[in-house]
Amino acid sequence: MRFRFACVALALITAVALPACSGGTSRKRATAAQGEAPLNAGRGRSIYLAQCSACHGRDGTGGQIGPQLRNEHLRHTFAQVRDIVLDPEPPMPKLFPARMTGADVRDVSAYVETL
Ligand code: HEC
Repeated sequence: MRFRFACVALALITAVALPACSGGTSRKRATAAQGEAPLNAGRGRSIYLAQCSACHGRDGTGGQIGPQLRNEHLRHTFAQVRDIVLDPEPPMPKLFPARMTGADVRDVSAYVETL
């Protein structure tokens, strides 16, 4: 009984997972496959303007406090940017979880990767 259930579950997972894999490996799909909402860089932009631009500049060109984030994708991957925002080096402030949700961190990191 248990074995049969496992087989049915495996068949279902395969049926759902295979088409999702065949369409490419964009971040959106990879993240959605992990059960999270798709990344939303547009939403990330407004979070960036509210939480990051004072130090990093409106367009990521850098400010008096923060370094520029232009072409950040050449220096850090999405996951690395997310980890920096989750646990930054001082003087960059830790905004999660007091000022930003986990979804905010992911969306703003996706936006930073577009600068
Ligand atoms: C109070 C100013 C300040 C704010 C607000 C701030 N940062 Fe920073 N950030 C810094 C400073 C300063 C550094 C450099 C830290 C160091 O010396 O490693 C930094 C570093 C970074 C880096 C690493 C840059 C690199 O290539 O080494 C990333 C990515 C980053 N910040 C993203 C963000 C994002 C996204 C936000 C908004 C959610 C944000 N920061 C908000 C000041 C700030």
